Amino acid sequence: MSATETMTETVPPPPTCVGQPDISYHPDEAKFRARTARRLAEDPTLPQRPLPEGFPPSVEGPNVWEGKDWKDESQWVYNLTDEHLAEIDRALAHFESLDKPLGFINKETFPLPTLSQELWKLAKVLYSGRGFFVLREIPIDKYSRQELMIVYAGISSHVGSERGKQDGTNSMLAHIKDLRVSHAHEKGGIGNSAYTTDKQVFHSDIGDLIALLSIQTSAHGGISRLSSGGRVYNEIAKTRPDLITVMKDNWQLDKFGGNPGYGERPVLYNEDGHIVIQYSRRQFVGYGTQLRSAHIPPISEAQAEALDMLHFYAEKYSLELNFKKGDIQYINSMGLLHARDAFTDDGEKT
Ligand SMILES: [Fe+2]
Repeated sequence: MSATETMTETVPPPPTCVGQPDISYHPDEAKFRARTARRLAEDPTLPQRPLPEGFPPSVEGPNVWEGKDWKDESQWVYNLTDEHLAEIDRALAHFESLDKPLGFINKETFPLPTLSQELWKLAKVLYSGRGFFVLREIPIDKYSRQELMIVYAGISSHVGSERGKQDGTNSMLAHIKDLRVSHAHEKGGIGNSAYTTDKQVFHSDIGDLIALLSIQTSAHGGISRLSSGGRVYNEIAKTRPDLITVMKDNWQLDKFGGNPGYGERPVLYNEDGHIVIQYSRRQFVGYGTQLRSAHIPPISEAQAEALDMLHFYAEKYSLELNFKKGDIQYINSMGLLHARDAFTDDGEKT
């Protein structure tokens, strides 16, 4: 028996969820169109279904926009002045002089006398404006990694006063990088495209405001994209109101080995008239070697169609950000979806 045959016998493929529709993490437009055609052939009345009670035919407001509505990045980039950067250095020195753990970083322990007022105005843009801005630029190479964490959390504490946990890891701050070359890969693969160089499809993160600091850009690709959840909602409500009903009902989210094995909640909410899309595609279709768990219910064909529709409309109406080293991107994750293109590193940039 050859070595290859031995491998085949000793490493069985991971079990898959029985009945799961033909859908994977990477949206396939041909499969999406075919699924839509098939479902409409089975029931041509789907587009005539009423919207669920309380859900409006369309929403409007400053956070309902399309990528083409924006002319250039001067509309969302806020450039830090030399005085702001000096303030940040003084705030860093002040926090370090307190000799407190990182959890004590807040507006008082990281004081920014003049920049704080600007950040407060920008925070209003997140909550009641377009829903995003970019702060430019933090001199990354000037700081140690520890100092950078303090600077990042310190500035961010003037935008949002509370910090939430990331990715169920109990961490307030996650380092997004390609982990495939580290031990994580050896432990059975990576179940989240964020920690690879792969494309990250449209999704929202948990929490209301999210921040991303670029400490290094990729050699090629990796473009950051934003899309308005309200704009996506309007398109689906107009063309396929039946899928609005599907989205506002409970879905089973894979917990990938957690106990219980899955949770239940909608992917679309109507909170006092605010339409909120909250979802991550991998929780329904898996990613990489982490397929949808075998022992939990499959998603439905209607849910598979809704997932693809969400992604393709988000992509169609997205805005491409020129995300540079030293930029901090702030997003209202209740109103906007985000994505990242695939990228490649080289020997210099990893
Ligand atoms: Fe994300």
